[in-house]
Amino acid sequence: MEKREELYAGKAKSVFKTDDPNLFVLEFRDDTSAFDGEKKEQLQRKGMVNNKFNAFIMEKLEAAGIPTHFEGLLSDTESLVKNLDMIPVECVVRNVSAGSLCRRLGVEEGKELTPPTFELFLKNDALHDPMVNESLAVSFGWASADELARMKELTYKVNDVLKALFDEAGMLLVDYKLEFGRSNGAVVLGDEFSPDGCRIWDKETRKKMDKDRFRQGLGEVIETYEEVGGRLGIQFD
Ligand code: TMP
Ligand code: ASP
Repeated sequence: MEKREELYAGKAKSVFKTDDPNLFVLEFRDDTSAFDGEKKEQLQRKGMVNNKFNAFIMEKLEAAGIPTHFEGLLSDTESLVKNLDMIPVECVVRNVSAGSLCRRLGVEEGKELTPPTFELFLKNDALHDPMVNESLAVSFGWASADELARMKELTYKVNDVLKALFDEAGMLLVDYKLEFGRSNGAVVLGDEFSPDGCRIWDKETRKKMDKDRFRQGLGEVIETYEEVGGRLGIQFD
């Protein structure tokens, strides 16, 4: 496999073509952004930590029968992934209230949500990822009803697998965002799963162990990501 030209640079990752049109190289950079790119910083080791974190989680999800784009680690900061036709709708599951849910509905942070909620957001920084629904997604042609049903099914399946994984390691999976794409007609999990795109709290102390540390200026961002990984048994060095 040969790495070729850069196809796309997002806020924290870049995508490169390869000599195989079905495969891309995903590079995890140290760039960190929040509030749709309003707050930006370089955090040393973040690319490496998130690349290895994501590889570990994607392998767990594959093992549980969830189709993902992940093919394998290439280097400290690069992974080989399938070329997906990305669906521009983000799926968010919440087990506990936090973040935009609290702001939107005026509920307090930390309330257990039973059953876990499922929300859709349009991937559009300029519009600040507005909340959408299935009807809008179908009418605008972002995804078909069948695809949305599959995305919801897979997003909840991910919750079953990861909630248990974090729980066993003394952590609470508060919420997370997933992105999906199409590959040969099937819906496949894409993008990444790392502490950048979810909320994780220590089960006992409720210490924030995710990108809220960066958003809220709590410090020790990458050290805490590594602590989460360490508790899950991920080797970073
Ligand atoms: P929210 O509380 O800001 O709506 O976010 C819910 C979860 O989804 C949180 O873990 C952060 C994640 N998320 C992203 O990583 N990127 C996004 O663009 C959105 C909308 C949410
Ligand atoms: N991931 C988005 C950004 O980089 C939203 C966020 O995490 O606050 O701006």
